[in-house]
Amino acid sequence: MAPKFHGLLTKYISYQRGPVTILCGDMRELLWYFLPGSIELVASDPAYETISGGSNGNGKHRRPSGMLAANNGKGGFEHNDVQPEEYAAQLYHVLRDPAHLYWFMNNLGEERTLAAFGAAGFKRHKTLYWAKTHEKSQKPDPNPNRWYMNVVEEILFFRKGTAFAISDPSMLEIFYDPAPRGAARLHPTEKPVSLMRKLIKNSSQPDDVVLDPFCGSGSTLEAAVSTGRQAIGIDIDANYCTIAAKRLDRFLDGCDSRLLSGRQLSFSTGL
Ligand SMILES: C[S@@+](CC[C@H](N)C(=O)[O-])C[C@H]1O[C@@H](n2cnc3c(N)ncnc32)[C@H](O)[C@@H]1O
Repeated sequence: MAPKFHGLLTKYISYQRGPVTILCGDMRELLWYFLPGSIELVASDPAYETISGGSNGNGKHRRPSGMLAANNGKGGFEHNDVQPEEYAAQLYHVLRDPAHLYWFMNNLGEERTLAAFGAAGFKRHKTLYWAKTHEKSQKPDPNPNRWYMNVVEEILFFRKGTAFAISDPSMLEIFYDPAPRGAARLHPTEKPVSLMRKLIKNSSQPDDVVLDPFCGSGSTLEAAVSTGRQAIGIDIDANYCTIAAKRLDRFLDGCDSRLLSGRQLSFSTGL
């Protein structure tokens, strides 16, 4: 099979095993080295703003406060300064035509994301919702909020090119999956593998390449390989690249060896 990826990417590979490749770097730079149409599906939970208020005293900077202070770069994750206009066109470029893209978002970043993705050429199908459930009770597990309790996260569902149906059109637009918590949680904003598997199965085929350009702990990558897809993850934070690699090693150690053989992504040798 002809390589779909530029040889310059090899220096960013922090993990490659069977159908999984993790690249450590800034997705805004790395996406330039992907060939147009090299990716069949993008599913990601990007870094985005999670607070609406606060100022540093001169009114210029927002800062987290109260219970949201965990996401101020100290208790949460460090790199949170990337904006959709900086990468929407590149995502459009690397996706095949037609393709789907799933983008986790909150109401603070929604308008800006819709504008940037629309300008890049994406069409929005609709907004989906992840209702976070409690692992034991399996009931929605809300967080306090003055303007109705928070229990859902938005997933903006876009397409590139001609519309095509998902594999299971009987599926509802709201997903009830437990949020990873406690000692098992690998990332402060980790997404459930069970949810990512549903999105991936609905919008790609076995052996397709699924990209998560903000892969964090690698939940999307595990979901992709567990459904027979190939997976590429990018994260700027070397610590999360290592955490994702360990997750994938654990998963691949225990999986059917057919998932591993002959399915490594290839990179062009020249520049
Ligand atoms: C919301 S988290 C993703 C969590 C992931 N869905 C999971 O389940 O673990 C976003 C991730 O994007 C990474 N990130 C931030 N800016 C980035 C950039 N410019 N390029 C690549 N990764 C970036 C952060 O390090 C963080 O791990």
